[in-house]
Amino acid sequence: MSINSTNSTSSNKLENILIIGNGGRENALAWAIQKNDLIKKIYILPGNAGSNKINKSEQISFDLNNINALIKNLKDLSIDLIVIGPETPLANGLGDILRKNNFNVFGPGEDGAKLESSKSWAKDFMIGANIPTAKFWKLNTLEEAKEILLTSEKPLVVKADGLASGKGVFIPDTKEETLDATKQILNGKFGKAGQTVLLEEKIEGPEVSVFALCDGKKYVLLPIAQDHKRIFDGDKGPNTGGMGAYAPTPLVTENFLSKITKEIVEPTINELQTRNIEYKGVLYFGLMITKSGPKVIEYNCRFGDPECQTIMPLMDKNFVILLQKCAMGNLIGNEVIEETNMVSGCVIATSEGYPNEYEKGFLIKITDVDIENFQIFDSGTAFNKEGNLITSGGRVLSIVCQEQNFDKVFGKAYRNLNKISFKGMFYRKDIGHQVRTKMNSEK
Ligand code: AMP
Ligand code: GLY
Repeated sequence: MSINSTNSTSSNKLENILIIGNGGRENALAWAIQKNDLIKKIYILPGNAGSNKINKSEQISFDLNNINALIKNLKDLSIDLIVIGPETPLANGLGDILRKNNFNVFGPGEDGAKLESSKSWAKDFMIGANIPTAKFWKLNTLEEAKEILLTSEKPLVVKADGLASGKGVFIPDTKEETLDATKQILNGKFGKAGQTVLLEEKIEGPEVSVFALCDGKKYVLLPIAQDHKRIFDGDKGPNTGGMGAYAPTPLVTENFLSKITKEIVEPTINELQTRNIEYKGVLYFGLMITKSGPKVIEYNCRFGDPECQTIMPLMDKNFVILLQKCAMGNLIGNEVIEETNMVSGCVIATSEGYPNEYEKGFLIKITDVDIENFQIFDSGTAFNKEGNLITSGGRVLSIVCQEQNFDKVFGKAYRNLNKISFKGMFYRKDIGHQVRTKMNSEK
């Protein structure tokens, strides 16, 4: 299927793209964007060692903090569309600055990014719009936490209010652990991000990631994905940025999706408009499917990682036109953007020790991997002095495959993972367990 590209912006130049960010997510975006023949060049700032190997793509290294020089350089490069990948520059208002300088930007301003940069702000937003979410309390002292714990019967989740690189959420088993987590956050474990703490009722159910491309008024949904947040098989161990994903998930049927749309997606977009927030970018709904219906666990103002790597290969060549329409505010809202009937899955290979301390700098060996419907998006890689590929992050490689069904997808992913190695390489063996009938990771 391809998108209805009437109104596609033939008069609006779309040759040179800038993607900001340095992860697997940004490489996957570049890979999907380059498919369109209109595109001549994709600059990835700062990118990583995998960026230059993507067709039409080039790593660049301008300083994001030197705004005057940045603007001049981007004008010299004739950038037609800027896609901002990570939350930090969005929360710092980079989208606003670039828009003020007449660039087309895919990514919300500082106001819209608050949905992610302040969990308490997002909670108030949800209450204001009657969007289902877990009950919560905001606090700034340990005494307040003790009082809440005295009266609460259900287990609570503890969260730092601000951005904490995905590490600001604790899921304690006891009241002592709850207080301890609160104390750590208030004592500065996440700096300013922890000046306010949120205690939230612990809710239960499978989680799904819903992505809406928004132009300020209208939106288009991407295939729904499931992430795997915990480090170990069986969803055990500490939370990570995400160890693997698959899409689309059969968990969300068409009927259920219309419930999510009515109760969550549309009220969110309407509330943004009510608050005069012109949200041009992707809105990520982290949902939990509870017995009493879908609830918002969190909003993010960016694509999920590794959900993005998983979903991008399902997009057709007009994906970039959709990003441009969002940036320019002329989405129709009925665009269909899935290219294939295939399904997609991603397994992340990490450094030993992640999500805690880990070493970097180990040589990465990749031999004789598949070519068709198979991608390796570098997440945390670099080149050493000799020009060899080495590890340089906690999440190192995103291994992504598409096939007719999930057994084949993950069979292929794990078969190829056997041909990839670096010292201490770790990955979960059960990614996609929800949709696989065979769990033998070697076949
Ligand atoms: P977040 O960083 O907000 O996505 O939270 C990380 C993870 O913590 C989520 O993906 C959930 O698995 C878990 N979590 C967050 N809030 C809750 C909650 N209220 N109840 C149960 N689990 C939660
Ligand atoms: N995969 C979850 C996230 O990007 O926040």
